[in-house]
Amino acid sequence: MRNLLVTGGAGFIGSNFIHRTLTERPEVRIFNLDALTYAGSLENLRDLPDPERHIFVQGDICNRALVDRLLLEYNIDTIVHFAAESHVDRSILGPGQFVQTNIIGTFTLLEAARQAWLTEKRLPIDQVRFHHVSTDEVFGSLAPLEPAFSETTPYAPNSPYSASKASSDHLVRAYLHTYGLPVTLTNCSNNYGPYQFPEKLIPLMILNALEGKRLPVYGDGKQVRDWLYVEDHCDAILAVLERGKVGETYNIGGNNQPFNIEIVSAICAILDELLPESPLTPHDQLITYVTDRPGHDRRYAMNIGKIERELGWRPRESLQTGLEKTVRWYLEHPEWVQAIRQTGDYSTWIDKNYAQRGGTK
Ligand code: NAD
Ligand code: DAU
Repeated sequence: MRNLLVTGGAGFIGSNFIHRTLTERPEVRIFNLDALTYAGSLENLRDLPDPERHIFVQGDICNRALVDRLLLEYNIDTIVHFAAESHVDRSILGPGQFVQTNIIGTFTLLEAARQAWLTEKRLPIDQVRFHHVSTDEVFGSLAPLEPAFSETTPYAPNSPYSASKASSDHLVRAYLHTYGLPVTLTNCSNNYGPYQFPEKLIPLMILNALEGKRLPVYGDGKQVRDWLYVEDHCDAILAVLERGKVGETYNIGGNNQPFNIEIVSAICAILDELLPESPLTPHDQLITYVTDRPGHDRRYAMNIGKIERELGWRPRESLQTGLEKTVRWYLEHPEWVQAIRQTGDYSTWIDKNYAQRGGTK
C-alpha cells in the first residue's frame, strides 16, 4: 500500500481516514477523489498532518476517463471506496442520486480497476486491492431478540439508500468471482465523531441543543443502532487493508445497542455537565417526538467476532467516552460548524425534512 486512491475523502469517514492514515502510515501517499457534494468539504481536510502526501482531486467517481487517468498517472495500487450518498432520509425524498452515485459510481471504479490491474496488468496482482466500504443496513432490520448480523446474514435492504449500497456490494463480489479482482469489503454500523455533517442524529442533536432548538426524535425513539466511534472504524479499515484476506467481508461495529432516545438523553446529560450555567440546562427539555421515518428499520446489531478473531481489531472507545469526545469536539469547533452550515443546502434540507413532521413532547 503506497499510492492510495481514497474516494469520498472530503466526507465524514473519508476525511477521518485520511487524517489517521497520514499520521500512522508515513510511507503512504493519498489521492483523494471527491465531488464535493453538500456532504463533502475541504474544511474537513484542514490541518492534515504531512499535507504534501495528500493530493486532492475534485471530481465524480462516475467519470470513467478521470478515474482511468488517476489510476495511471499516480500508479494507484489500493482503492478505498467511501464516496456515496449516505443519508437515509435523503434517499427517501430523492432516490435517483443514490442509484447514480452508489451503484453507477461503484461500477465505474470497478471497471477502471479491472482495466488497469487485470487487463493491462500495470502492477503485480498481489500488490493491488479494491476495498469497498459498506454498511450494516444491507442486512435489513432485526427483531428485538434476534441474533446480531454476521457476515453470512442474507441481504434484505429496506431503504433506497441501503438497497443502493447492497447493489454496490453485489457488484464488488461479482468482480471478485468473475474476474478475480482482489477485493475486500467491510460492513459497518453507525459512525459518530468529528467532522460528521449535522444532518445525522448525533451532530444534529448536539447543535440543536446548543441553540435551544427542539431535538426531533423519530417515532417512539426505541429504534436501536450499534454506534462506533469513527477513529475505531478507520483503524478497522487499515487492519483489513493490511491483514485482511482477499475476497473476505468483515463486519465492524461498536458492541453496543442503545435506543435512540438513550443516545439523545446521553448527549443532553453531557451538555448539562459541560455547560451547567446554560439557561438551556437541563437540555432534555428540548426533546420532541416527531413523525417517524417511513420504513424505519427498528434494530441493527453487529457480530464482530470475525474481525476480532482474525485481525485482532476491537473498538477502543466506549459509547460514553466516544460521545464525550464528540460533544467536546463540536463545542470546540464553532468555526467548522459555521462554515459547514453555510455550504451546501443545510437550511433547505432541515426545512424539507422536518417542517412536515409536527412534534409532541
Ligand atoms: P458522507 O456523506 O459524509 O461523505 C460522502 C462523501 O462522498 C462526500 O465527501 C461527498 O462529496 C462524496 N461524494 C458523493 N458523491 C460523489 C461522487 N459521485 N463522486 C465523488 N465523490 C462523491 O458519508 P460518510 O458518512 O463519510 O460515509 C462514507 C461511506 O461509509 C459511505 O459509503 C457510507 O455508505 C459508508 N458508511 C457510513 C456509515 C455512517 O454511519 N456514516 C456507516 C457505515 C458505512
Ligand atoms: O447503520 C449504518 C448507517 O448509519 C450508515 O450506513 C448511514 O450512512 C448513516 O447515515 C447511518 O444511518 P441511520 O439512518 O441509522 O443514521 P441517522 O443518523 O440518520 O439516524 C440514526 C437513528 O436516529 C435512526 O434510527 C433515525 C433516528 N433519527 C435520525 C434523525 C436525523 C431521529 O430520531 N431523528 C433525527 O432527526
